Amino acid sequence: MADGEKRSRGDSGSQLSYFDIQAYMGTTKHMGGFESTQTLIELCHIDENAYVLDIGCGVGATACHLARAYGCRVVGIDLREAMIENARDRARRERVEDRVEFRVEDVQALSFHEGMFDAVLCESVLTFVSDRPKAVAELARVLKPGGYVGLNEEVWIERPPAGMMERIGDIWDIEVDLPTSGEWLGWLESAGLRDVVVRSLTVDARREATQVKRYRLRDIAGMFYRALALYIKSSEMRRYMRGRRLPKDVFQYLGYALLVGRKQG
Ligand SMILES: C[S@@+](CC[C@H](N)C(=O)[O-])C[C@H]1O[C@@H](n2cnc3c(N)ncnc32)[C@H](O)[C@@H]1O
Repeated sequence: MADGEKRSRGDSGSQLSYFDIQAYMGTTKHMGGFESTQTLIELCHIDENAYVLDIGCGVGATACHLARAYGCRVVGIDLREAMIENARDRARRERVEDRVEFRVEDVQALSFHEGMFDAVLCESVLTFVSDRPKAVAELARVLKPGGYVGLNEEVWIERPPAGMMERIGDIWDIEVDLPTSGEWLGWLESAGLRDVVVRSLTVDARREATQVKRYRLRDIAGMFYRALALYIKSSEMRRYMRGRRLPKDVFQYLGYALLVGRKQG
């Protein structure tokens, strides 16, 4: 666990964390995959003139897509150096380095001045953050008046049985206390965002399994190769993988919400 994240459960007996493995494999994800990213981009009215901040950018897939497909300028931040290194490599491979910049930062204490960005995106990040209202207030602070915040975060559709909650916590390495869509909405409104669009969604497990589609073929081959090599080489990784399968009926309880709000101005 890095500083700025929710307290680790610390009971998995593993030295590897959920995000260490993802950084090593060069892959990060959020519910709804590329389709939900596209929806956020549209609802946030992002075009080639926009200056966009991608919070918890992971390996930089969304930030590089924005720069490549829309031609806009993007800053991606993440708590982990290993994610930022991955994201910089991606920007070089996709030849968008002139429009994308990546930095290590904590969403709860951003270094940017007030009112800098036209849009702030945040895909499956605040779920892992200890002070969510503070983080949402930071997103609103760095946004220009009239700009948009777009969130894609996990929610409970219904509170799961205690055993399942523990299981999800083990996999994500956190104490799982997911908010409802209503709580996310309340935090956005308290931070001064208005006309908030809320889409509460259920997860299509088969579709989730095809999320790697947002990466290029060469990247996917590299991910599988690294995962396999680590699995073969490391007993720690084998132990990690064995203990980390989501329960079959998890998506009866675990959903996600897209929320987009405009800063008053
Ligand atoms: C589930 S991944 C999602 C990554 C990316 N948004 C995507 O959709 O592929 C969550 C990311 O949030 C980052 N993160 C966690 N806590 C953070 C914090 N306090 N500040 C910034 N980034 C954070 C993690 O390092 C990780 O890269």
